[in-house]
Amino acid sequence: MTFPAVRAIGAAMSKRTLPEEAARRRTFAIIAHPDAGKTTLTEHILLAGGAIRAAGAVRARGENRRTRSDWMKIEKERGISVSASVMTFEHDDKMFNLLDTPGHEDFSEDTYRTLTAADCAIMVLDAAKGIEPQTLKLFEVCRLRDIPIITFINKLDREAQDPMALLDEIASRLQLDPSPIWWPAQSGNRLRGMVEMGTGRFQPYARKEAGAAEDPDHPPALPLSDAAEYFEQGEQEALIEAAELVEGGYKPFDVQAFLEGHMTPVLWGSALRHFGIDELLKAIGDWAPAPKVMKAKKEAPPETRNAPEPEDIIVQPGADEVTGFVFKVQANMDPNHRDRIAMFRMASGRFQRGMKLKVQNTGKALSVNAPIMFFASDRELADDAFAGDVIGIPNHGVLRVGDSLSESGMVRFAGLPNFAPEILQRVRVRDPLKAKHLKKALEGLAEEGVTQLFRPELGADFIVGAVGQLQFEVMADRLNSEYGLDSMFEPSPWAEARWVSGEKADLDDFMGKYRPQMAADIDGAPVFLAKSSWETGYVGERFPKVAFSRTKERG
Ligand code: G4P
Repeated sequence: MTFPAVRAIGAAMSKRTLPEEAARRRTFAIIAHPDAGKTTLTEHILLAGGAIRAAGAVRARGENRRTRSDWMKIEKERGISVSASVMTFEHDDKMFNLLDTPGHEDFSEDTYRTLTAADCAIMVLDAAKGIEPQTLKLFEVCRLRDIPIITFINKLDREAQDPMALLDEIASRLQLDPSPIWWPAQSGNRLRGMVEMGTGRFQPYARKEAGAAEDPDHPPALPLSDAAEYFEQGEQEALIEAAELVEGGYKPFDVQAFLEGHMTPVLWGSALRHFGIDELLKAIGDWAPAPKVMKAKKEAPPETRNAPEPEDIIVQPGADEVTGFVFKVQANMDPNHRDRIAMFRMASGRFQRGMKLKVQNTGKALSVNAPIMFFASDRELADDAFAGDVIGIPNHGVLRVGDSLSESGMVRFAGLPNFAPEILQRVRVRDPLKAKHLKKALEGLAEEGVTQLFRPELGADFIVGAVGQLQFEVMADRLNSEYGLDSMFEPSPWAEARWVSGEKADLDDFMGKYRPQMAADIDGAPVFLAKSSWETGYVGERFPKVAFSRTKERG
């Protein structure tokens, strides 16, 4: 499928300056507990943005891809989406980059990483369920990274909780001021529509007739006072009253408070019935931040002797130099080619095809001749891209998650977190002659971010860490199909892994005493393996000068 409107963008772009191009980008992700409606909402946002023509295309594309790449067998069997991708579309003079995050709980680490590339998140809640465990986890990551959040309360076409109870839950559990932008007129079979706070504009809801093949269009918005035909006895008055109460009871929307992470605008709708979606897209366009100014370090090239201390710098999205970082590596999408696609989030500059970029930590130069831009339902070659955009860079293992790339090769972005795994297992191959192969394969998977790899200081075992059990299954499957290795995963004595840091003398003292429990991660950083969380606490108290951390910021 091709999208002429999207293809024509290249020509139109050239008239804008770099800062103007950056300013019109909206790079966002959707966070949700599984089943809240993330996939459905993604489709309907793409539909509202004119990027696809019919609902169902996102899933169809997924299935297409699966038949082409059978390494995702598990994905197919389990009916879950393991890989994250990016979808780009232009709408209302803005460029939207929707980062698709996998929804399954076990893959939250991948999702967390994707959030490092987003400037804004849409938090989808099921109107009947409110905040669920995964919502909370993802929210915490957004807060940690100062990502502002727009709330979309979905499935209004079903019986919902009381709207005020939903807002109160946001306020009390997330410590976030909810500011309703619209207010729903009931839910389920009695859903009449919603009214806009402040303006009194009413957006009616049209229900699908029994037996009809397609959803009807929702009628145009009109003043609530003129909307009597959409209500039954007393309902219109009740809504007018409720709207007054709500306007007095909640803080009005304040963009600054939203950008600072204190407030979330709350929108409502039904993704499945395409209700409230245009309003959501408008909110993203109007309020979601353009790519941020980013902090970075300017480092001397790796080969420099007696290099000076790195310098703190600020990267402006409209600056000339192309800079950015890799937040995800998607490998072996096609099992016949060992291709890896590094997802590169741009922080500044105008990227043009064929450009040479350097990897900061290795100094390696890379000619990016076949970058991929992910236009809605298809992968296409990108001609140019700007701050906020994500391009796929095919490579053969040169690029790793957390790598910084720039034209000078001197810019380093920090802050891509690795999360402490929650399950640690020992892995071996049945054929001992293949131990070397296993090492290579495990390193490859760890570089991609599928799992984490720890090499204990003593002994020859590999310890593999994952956030969830399913990651081990994906790994065993890939070791077999891609590397021809028959592997065994066994329980390990370790329950937790913590990155350790501190002054050298304190660290050396600690590591000397706990050598049998020390390991190195893929980058050689020291990791303490504990037998229980009690032990982590105990050791932490004994060595107060050593920091034990659940996350490690790469870069
Ligand atoms: P996820 O990606 O967050 O896991 O959720 P997904 O969009 O797959 O939606 C989960 C289920 O909720 C799907 O139903 C979907 O159709 C339904 N759903 C999503 N949005 C709405 C909505 O606004 N209203 C209603 N009534 N349902 C909604 P399913 O039966 O599990 O799948 P399917 O057979 O419909 O594909």
